[in-house]
Amino acid sequence: MNVLIIGAGGREHALGWKISHSKQCDKLFFAPGNAGTAEVGTNLPIDVNDFEGLRRVCIEEQISLVVVGPELPLVEGIVDFFGADKLLQDVAIIGPDQMGARLEGSKAYAKQFMLESGIPTASAFEVNSTNLAEGIEYLRSAAAPFVLKADGLAAGKGVLILHSLEEAERELKAMLEGKFGAASEKVVIEQFLSGIELSVFVLTDGKDYKILPSAKDYKRIGEGDTGPNTGGMGAVSPVIFADKLFMEKVEKRIIIPTMEGLKKRGIIYKGFIFIGLMNVQGDPFVIEYNVRLGDPEAECILPRIQSDLLELLMASWKGELGGQILETDDRHAVTVVMVSGGYPGNYKKGFPVSGLDATKECVVFHAGTSIDVETAGVKTSGGRVFAFTALDYSIESARKTVYKNISKVQFSAASYRKDIGEDLIAYKK
Ligand code: AMP
Ligand code: GLY
Repeated sequence: MNVLIIGAGGREHALGWKISHSKQCDKLFFAPGNAGTAEVGTNLPIDVNDFEGLRRVCIEEQISLVVVGPELPLVEGIVDFFGADKLLQDVAIIGPDQMGARLEGSKAYAKQFMLESGIPTASAFEVNSTNLAEGIEYLRSAAAPFVLKADGLAAGKGVLILHSLEEAERELKAMLEGKFGAASEKVVIEQFLSGIELSVFVLTDGKDYKILPSAKDYKRIGEGDTGPNTGGMGAVSPVIFADKLFMEKVEKRIIIPTMEGLKKRGIIYKGFIFIGLMNVQGDPFVIEYNVRLGDPEAECILPRIQSDLLELLMASWKGELGGQILETDDRHAVTVVMVSGGYPGNYKKGFPVSGLDATKECVVFHAGTSIDVETAGVKTSGGRVFAFTALDYSIESARKTVYKNISKVQFSAASYRKDIGEDLIAYKK
């Protein structure tokens, strides 16, 4: 069958790489893709939100399966758009409907969903321009640090953690006055949870589900988790503290009630649920839902899935996930992201990349890359440029391999964190 993957990052390259291993995959397309996806399929110059363009290509290329990588098209209702079109109705599309995508698209909705479903999460208070005074009162009665979340999508920047009350009050007002545009017309003030974060992934067909390998993401730009937040500088899977007992709690307290909450609301959900969790002294609390795979977590967990991903995704679409077996690789995966100097602030693009052919011992997923039309070589075109993943029987040896290989790849002002996975090794000891 022919498959279309929507998106242009390392996550989409990893999805395509994995799907390309399936015997059932004939032609593979990416919209719009990057230099790496061009090695496993065909890139099409169609924006992720150009539903008409995507519709056209699905018909022209006889696409049977569409995998939506990023959240934006889901929040904009791509699944409903496909469902309402006679020619697209039978195309399998992976992701929730627009109502389901609100789990990521609205922090206030997600919080209500969790509270109504009895899912452990930080206590919270919703503020808009009509109840600012109550919001300020709530802040004053809470203890620092203060967590403020823009309700809507804010390109990963909508969560502020503030250490003084004065700052929190100021920021709350600024958010309501449009600091993040319409996304912060509503703000969720949340209790600060202290613990270690991890990302749990579920694939569902709306009734049954499979728990995919979990991962730990490294969000900050600097070593030792310092500096501004990024989309993710690396990931490790499995997560040593997500042991059997912890995962049983996650399933019982979070995954099962989430599935019931979806059913109760009539949400059509055939796709990935990414549950961002805080492990608070052995108990899981939900920090956020995302309605897609994580990036760079996808680059870390997909190489650990041994089952045919295309088959799993088709089973999810058909409501037959219960009959599937998910096989995973016991080895440890370590993923390190290479970024452009200046990221997550301003950075330059267009630098030629060398050394990619020398990275034989790990998988290289492309993110912000394109093909230079003059030289036909790879050049940088974004802040997050590559994700390197190595698998081995210990985190230590997977780290060694990934860092040995990453050092062979070069472009002007490239950088990466050298401490991915170190904390988990220390945790183990
Ligand atoms: P989110 O966009 O919801 O993932 O939030 C971004 C980051 O802020 C999370 O990955 C956490 O590191 C942090 N964060 C969000 N909510 C909380 C909370 N209630 N307590 C502590 N940290 C939080
Ligand atoms: N790595 C975090 C995310 O994809 O949202």
